[in-house]
Amino acid sequence: MSNSRRTFAIISHPDAGKTTLTEKLLLQGGAIHLAGEVKARGQARRARSDWMKIEQQRGISVTSSVMTFEKTAPDGSTITFNLLDTPGHEDFSEDTYRTLTAVDSAIMVIDAAKGIEPQTRKLFEVCRLRSVPIITFINKVDREGRACFDLLDEVADKLALDVCPMSWPVGMGGLFEGILDIATGKVSRPEGGSKEFLGKVDENVTLPEDVGEELELAQAGYPEFDLEAYRSGDLTPVYFGSALKNFGVAELIDAIAKYAPPPRPQPTEAGPVEPENKEVSGFIFKVQANMDPMHRDRIAFMRLVSGTFKRGMKLTPSGLGKPIAIHSPILFFAQDREIADSAEPGDIIGIPNHGTLRVGDTLSEKNQIRFTGLPNFAPEILRRVALKDPTKTKQLRKALDDLSEEGVIQVFYPEIGSQWIVGVVGQLQLDVLISRLQAEYKVEAMLEASPFDTARWIRGSDQALRDFAEFNKMNLAKDRDGDPVFMAKSAWDVGYQQERNPDLTFSATKER
Ligand code: G4P
Repeated sequence: MSNSRRTFAIISHPDAGKTTLTEKLLLQGGAIHLAGEVKARGQARRARSDWMKIEQQRGISVTSSVMTFEKTAPDGSTITFNLLDTPGHEDFSEDTYRTLTAVDSAIMVIDAAKGIEPQTRKLFEVCRLRSVPIITFINKVDREGRACFDLLDEVADKLALDVCPMSWPVGMGGLFEGILDIATGKVSRPEGGSKEFLGKVDENVTLPEDVGEELELAQAGYPEFDLEAYRSGDLTPVYFGSALKNFGVAELIDAIAKYAPPPRPQPTEAGPVEPENKEVSGFIFKVQANMDPMHRDRIAFMRLVSGTFKRGMKLTPSGLGKPIAIHSPILFFAQDREIADSAEPGDIIGIPNHGTLRVGDTLSEKNQIRFTGLPNFAPEILRRVALKDPTKTKQLRKALDDLSEEGVIQVFYPEIGSQWIVGVVGQLQLDVLISRLQAEYKVEAMLEASPFDTARWIRGSDQALRDFAEFNKMNLAKDRDGDPVFMAKSAWDVGYQQERNPDLTFSATKER
């Protein structure tokens, strides 16, 4: 039943509390039993591969994963939540962007003392591009933060979004007394000296006078909750809480269950595919290679779009043409990887493979549809790769192909010369590249300055491309798929060529 699925991600600036909130969501869903397990598990996993040391050193999360938990709604139905973890560090925006293509909604976590921070904003813009509906969680109200009105107005102004407060903190920081549900007027209070929330709901409270006044102002000053406006991405309901102390988290889960959209139709060139469609289809939004260094396996993460997937089913990847049987699909439950027998639209399936599946591929039973909207982004940093040992050219080519397929880097093979160029969206990806080349492919490489500053995919008729190539061979390269790329010395260069070649398009993204 696809309408029992909620597939979502948490977007936030580092330190706003995403990890803590994830832990608490999983705890409430009964998926993990000890707070801190998300981090602990992460560390055990990281220890398994050398390149992941970078994560540890920098205290960031490089790998994404999928966490599934269930909760019974008040009406007795069971809702399955698929939480897709997005790497928080800004250098990993490309991977994060791709993950956001696989969700139906997002939770935006904001630190009550800091408001909207740069990374929150960037991720929000990606959600807006695809009209992904957003529930806002203003975190850390157990500490002194900014005034609620200030925070609400900032969300509204900076993100050009209607805001609708759904709850209200009674006091903040040391004066924090509980959280008021605006619709019912009930206050959830922490109990006992520890102030850990124990679920006590007080129905007969007399609010302090200033809170009562604030509430009146809030109700008068902001629009009422409107499900349609939320689902079309024009309005965000706002919840206040503390992930650390577990205040407001249950309300947040209820809100996702109640308001967040079930699996949405996904676009193809021939129109959207509805989840109710019987034919099984999905798309790959992430590939992770070498999860286990002893095996050269890869896991491709597929978001199921339509149909009921059954283990052993044959699906045809758009890039391949011949069907593959999926015998050991993996569902990523928080405690463990589990073998999936069946999955519904909105679910994520891990498909082990040896490199046949790539980010952006559509998988389907009849091989007649192609999902659109999974872009590659033009790299902002380009480097030339130089080998310390020139006899390792073959290994390097294999490694660059693999890693570009996984989305860690993009690779460009110039038409002239033998110096391969890698492109990344953030600096940190370069460190990951060097470290993984060494650890997984035994290739020692250095990165040197590149003569180019940016890259654009070029499209046009064969004739127009040939004419362009005649004069610009020095600036032409092929990407991993063999598609032509213009390597530009500057943004100005791009504009200049675009003007001179109106028959060609120079694109900063490439949709596969
Ligand atoms: P992130 O994944 O978004 O980067 O944030 P994370 O959950 O790691 O939280 C960042 C810091 O903020 C952590 O403190 C965490 O304990 C704290 N924090 C998260 N939610 C709340 C909250 O509701 N209230 C308060 N007061 N603090 C919160 P840290 O000291 O950096 O890490 P740790 O030593 O606690 O692990």
